Amino acid sequence: MATTYHRSWAEPYKMKMVELLRMTTRAQRLKAIRDAGFNTFLLPSKDVYIDLLTDSGTSAMSDRQWAGMMQGDESYAGSQNFYHLEKAVHAYYGYKYLVPTHQGRGAENLLSKILIKPGDIIPGNMYFTTTRLHQELAGGTFADIIIDEAHDPQNEHPFKGNVDLNKLEKLVKKHGPEKIPYVCIATNVNMAGGQPISLANLRELWNYTRQHGIRIIHDMTRVAENAYFIQQREPGYAKMSIQRIVKAICSYTDGATMSAKKDALVNIGGFLATNEWEVYEEARNLVVVYEGLHTYGGMAGRDMEAMAIGIEESLNDNHIHARVGQVEYLGHRMEEFDIPLVRPIGGHGVFVDARRFLPHIPQDKFPAQALAAEIYLDSGVRTMERGIVSAGRKPNGEQYFPKLELVRFTIPRRVYTQAHMDVVAESANAVLHRRNRIKGLNMVYEPKYLRFFQARFERL
Ligand code: F0G
Repeated sequence: MATTYHRSWAEPYKMKMVELLRMTTRAQRLKAIRDAGFNTFLLPSKDVYIDLLTDSGTSAMSDRQWAGMMQGDESYAGSQNFYHLEKAVHAYYGYKYLVPTHQGRGAENLLSKILIKPGDIIPGNMYFTTTRLHQELAGGTFADIIIDEAHDPQNEHPFKGNVDLNKLEKLVKKHGPEKIPYVCIATNVNMAGGQPISLANLRELWNYTRQHGIRIIHDMTRVAENAYFIQQREPGYAKMSIQRIVKAICSYTDGATMSAKKDALVNIGGFLATNEWEVYEEARNLVVVYEGLHTYGGMAGRDMEAMAIGIEESLNDNHIHARVGQVEYLGHRMEEFDIPLVRPIGGHGVFVDARRFLPHIPQDKFPAQALAAEIYLDSGVRTMERGIVSAGRKPNGEQYFPKLELVRFTIPRRVYTQAHMDVVAESANAVLHRRNRIKGLNMVYEPKYLRFFQARFERL
């Protein structure tokens, strides 16, 4: 009988410097979360032990990236680092024209202002908070065209980021293609739980939009993680490198917005990229109004250099395997404790299903918000609500009631160890065991825009 040996993956890096963490007592955490109005965004980071609030801007840079920081060319115009970044975007993503921005939403602002007219419809594979707000501020209306499976946390579909072309076809028939400036396609869909779109689905969408003269704009914030799932799950791609898959994804889109603070392994930065000269010309002009000159767009030269290097590192097969592998490790640990999760486990974090975790708390009493506060109280682990608070209100003032009511345990890249993941899973388990005693929340302060960042709550 042939014997096969299990072989583990491990991080393709070692530590050269560490940042010390501060431990807190339960009494200190109780005071901190009360002072923060039960909103983990309002906690000072000094009161946090393991910070899984977000994977945005929280990556550890490599020694190569830090060396690149020392080569920052801080000239106002024509910084060398801009040309390095332009070269990287061209080489690895394939887009023709690049306009740097300070982060993703800076690019979303420019894009929305350029392409959206009042009354337009912008279909997308699930909303993202800042993306939809910029569409609405430009007079557009977001329309969700993701497959139904994406709204069901227990559905095991391997590509829950896929588009339902029938939903898009209905919109095109109803409003006409001239009312649809572009379809917004996110890779590794954040709000669905870090779920990928398949290349087959994207190719179909590409063919469909070509027939109707509609652009595809790619929210490529987490494109490398999406490429990893294609490599692992989509027939025919098992032997293709992440670099080639990423290039293929981008080739089925007309332009992109990027928050480089995620996959591209930097602490700040983003861009708008396009293959259309007219869009580029307009963006290059508008960027000087909102961000900075078109050769820095709100970033320091050193940050552009770190991004150029980070883009290359992010597409290394060993890197992305360890990155998503760590997320899966946490997910599997939690599943051993029967913690209800969004399935399949996502690319950038583990999403706990607060509806099933706290079935006694109705959605308008903010179960995911309450759960995030309880996790913090238990162990100092900071997570984030991705449910009704994040969904916010429609332009007419009504609340959205999203099907997904989730707490996101987001894993920063190259930052925490497997032992940290064990502590996190055990904390979630401890909270699960006393879930019956957890109460809902009342919102006592609600900001007008993107309320989840600054809203305040009180315990019922
Ligand atoms: N698109 C997606 C899919 C994102 O996840 C984000 C940010 C943005 C756009 C906006 O980019 O923050 O650089 O302005 N997501 C962060 C998160 C905030 O925690 O998921 P940004």
